[in-house]
Amino acid sequence: MAWIDVCFSATGVLDFPILFGVHTVIMNTLRWIRAFLFFALAAIAPALCAQAAQSQPEFIQPGAVWLDTQGHQIQAHGGGVLYHDHVWYWFGEDRTQGLDPDKRYVACYSSRDLIHWTFRGRPLQLADPDRIGSGWVLERPKVFYSRSTRQFVMYFHLDDSAYKVARVATAISSTPTGPYRYVRSFRPLGLESRDIGQFEDDDGSDYLIFESRPSGGFYIAELSSDRLSVARQVAFLDLALEGGAVVHYRDLYYVLGSHLTGWNPNPNVYSSAPSLTGPWTQFLPVAPAVPDTYGAQSGLLLKITGDRNTAVIFMGDIWNPSKLWDSRYLWMPVQVGEGKMALPPPAPWTIDVTTGVVTVNPKEQIAKITK
Ligand code: GAL
Repeated sequence: MAWIDVCFSATGVLDFPILFGVHTVIMNTLRWIRAFLFFALAAIAPALCAQAAQSQPEFIQPGAVWLDTQGHQIQAHGGGVLYHDHVWYWFGEDRTQGLDPDKRYVACYSSRDLIHWTFRGRPLQLADPDRIGSGWVLERPKVFYSRSTRQFVMYFHLDDSAYKVARVATAISSTPTGPYRYVRSFRPLGLESRDIGQFEDDDGSDYLIFESRPSGGFYIAELSSDRLSVARQVAFLDLALEGGAVVHYRDLYYVLGSHLTGWNPNPNVYSSAPSLTGPWTQFLPVAPAVPDTYGAQSGLLLKITGDRNTAVIFMGDIWNPSKLWDSRYLWMPVQVGEGKMALPPPAPWTIDVTTGVVTVNPKEQIAKITK
């Protein structure tokens, strides 16, 4: 504040005691202004950040860093999506760096347009629930809603570091955003279960999809009405696939999955059937033009039923095993119908969730997704 001293001395009007008093008043006033500006800025900063995120292009950019409405990289890997009361909730593995290494975290985001996602906290923050040991694994959380109990039930893959435990675990909450209370772990239908997927049919019934290595294939199983247990096997598909996803589109069911290559991408394949029980067609690659599904692994097929169009979105993970927190997402509408499904080359795209109309910007096709 030297300039104030200079200013007043330069006038030569005020003698020293007065000058000192005025100087103190001005200094105090300036401090108040500075404090006011600081607090005002702190108060509006989140809104400014949110606005900055909102004002990003209204396009989903497959493979790019995807920010939530507060400007943080979305952490919802191996995720699932629940649509409830006109809101989509995206749950996934939160791999943020620096979290407690003994715990595992599930993050939740909500959206009304599928493009802007608001962080709703970590509804599950779990310490090793079954004394599995260091390096225990919580993967691919999925949340189902039970209309009979009005409870939200989270399923996730629970395992040890060698993936030998092969169980699912459940946690329960009365609100979608949690907190979820751990319930138990078990093997669905008494079978080994690793990657899990979720599917809700048009009639509201819910299904768990799980890969079971000893049987060399994967299961689609219906959940009980309270969603707390796996009630009955609906289908066994005789191909070792994980990252399993199912969608009911028009008069057919489509199933999608990836081969068992760990974090590395491979040609994901699909099949279709007139009913969940089959008969299922021969599996074919969903992205025949490329051997690695554009670097992504299937996770979910989300159906958006608008008043003009029904869109089906491939939601996959582009894993980065050395920096799991920087794994990306490949969300892209698929071309689907008459028993065929094709994942087009990734390009920025957008959706109007009211009409269901999807707009892809093929001119900006993403040639190579880089991490
Ligand atoms: C993948 C699986 C992931 C994770 C990974 C570990 O095949 O889809 O969820 O389990 O293996 O290697």
